[in-house]
Amino acid sequence: MSQRILMTGHNGYLGSVMAVYLQERGFSVTGLDTGFYRLCQFGDDDSYFPVIGKDIRDVAESDLRGFDAVIHLAALCNDPLGNLDPELTAEINYRASVRLATLARSAGVHRFLFASSCSMYGASSQEDLLDETAPLRPITAYAESKVHTEEEVAKLADDRFSPIFLRNGTVYGLSPRLRADVVLNNLVCHAFTSGKVRLMSDGTAWRPIVHVQDVACAFYAALVADRSRIHNEAFNVGANSENYQVRDIAEIVHKVVPNCVVEFTGEGGSDPRSYRVDFSKIGGALPAYQPRWNAWLGAEELLGGFHRFGLTTGDFQGRRFTRLAQLKFLLDHGFVDLSLRWNTGARYVAQAA
Ligand SMILES: NC(=O)c1ccc[n+]([C@@H]2O[C@H](COP(=O)([O-])OP(=O)(O)OC[C@H]3O[C@@H](n4cnc5c(N)ncnc54)[C@H](O)[C@@H]3O)[C@@H](O)[C@H]2O)c1
Repeated sequence: MSQRILMTGHNGYLGSVMAVYLQERGFSVTGLDTGFYRLCQFGDDDSYFPVIGKDIRDVAESDLRGFDAVIHLAALCNDPLGNLDPELTAEINYRASVRLATLARSAGVHRFLFASSCSMYGASSQEDLLDETAPLRPITAYAESKVHTEEEVAKLADDRFSPIFLRNGTVYGLSPRLRADVVLNNLVCHAFTSGKVRLMSDGTAWRPIVHVQDVACAFYAALVADRSRIHNEAFNVGANSENYQVRDIAEIVHKVVPNCVVEFTGEGGSDPRSYRVDFSKIGGALPAYQPRWNAWLGAEELLGGFHRFGLTTGDFQGRRFTRLAQLKFLLDHGFVDLSLRWNTGARYVAQAA
C-alpha cells in the first residue's frame, strides 16, 4: 500500500509543487491548510487530492490518525511576516508546530518532516561554510520560531516517532502559488516587468538558494530513506555550488532577462542575514536526493513561465505573490481577525476586493 502523507500548508508555494511531486511517485497525499493564499494562483493548478480546510492551531488527534508521515509546511513564512506580529509567528510557527508533532506522535504517525530554514544560521562569518552542527544565530522572529520548534520537537523522538528537520535554503522556481518575495523570483519578476534588476541592499550578503522541485525531492528522499539515516536528524537542503552573494544572483538575472539593467537603490543598507551553507550531509545520507537545478536554470524557467502565463507590473506589485501584502489585505478587509482566524464564512468567499 502507498504511504499516506498528511501535508500541512499544501496550498502554499512549496506545498503546491510538493504534493504533486509526491503523488507522481505513488504517495497518497491529503492536504491541510487554512487557505490564506488559496486564490493567489499563477498559471495552471490541476492538482487533485483530499484536503482538510483547517488552521493548524485547531488540529485534533483524529485529523492525524491513519497517516504514516506528516509533512509540516504550514507557517507564516518569512522574516517581514514575523515583523507583522512576532507573537503570532511564535504561536503559529512554534507552539502550534510542537502541538501538531505531539498529536502526530500520539496518533501513531511514524515520521514528522519539518520544513525548517537555513535562516536560523542568521548573521554568520562570511568565510565559514555552515554545516548542521554550526551555532544557530537567529535574528528574526521567523528564524527563532524554527530554532525553538526544532529543539522541542527533537525531544519527542522515540522508537516509533522520527522527527526530521529539513533546513531549506531560500527557495526559487515556478509554482502554482508563486511567491515574488523570495530573492531570485523577486529579481526576475522585477527585471521582467520593469527592465530593472533592483537591489535594495548592497548585495554583499550570502544566501544559499534551492529550487522548489529540489526541495520536494529532499522531502521525498527523507520519506523513502532507511529510518536509521533520518531519525531525529537535521539536513541542510540545497547544494554547495548554490551559495551566492545576492549581487551575483542579480548578475545572473541581468544576463538571463533581455534588455535589463542592474540598479542598487541602497535604501536597505547591508543585510545582516548572511550565511554560506554546507550541503554535504544530505547528499551523503539520503541517496534519493538528486538536486537538478541551479540559479541560471531557475532564472530561465521563471522567465519562460512569465512569458507563457503573463506577468504584469500590477500582478507583481499587488498582493497575489507577496505573502505580507495578502495577509494585510485579509486583515484590512475583515476577512480574518487579528489572530489570523477567518471571520465567519470568509474562508470560502472569493476575496475580490
Ligand atoms: N519559501 C522559502 O524560501 C522557504 C525557505 C525555507 C523554509 N521554508 C519553509 O517552508 C514552508 C513552506 O513555505 P512556503 O514558501 O510554501 O510558504 P507559503 O506562505 O507559500 O505557504 C504556507 C502555507 O501555510 C498555510 N498556513 C499558514 N498559517 C497556517 C495556519 N495557522 N494553519 C493552517 N495553514 C496555515 C498558508 O495558508 C499557506 O498555504 C514554511 O514552513 C517555510 O518556513 C520556506
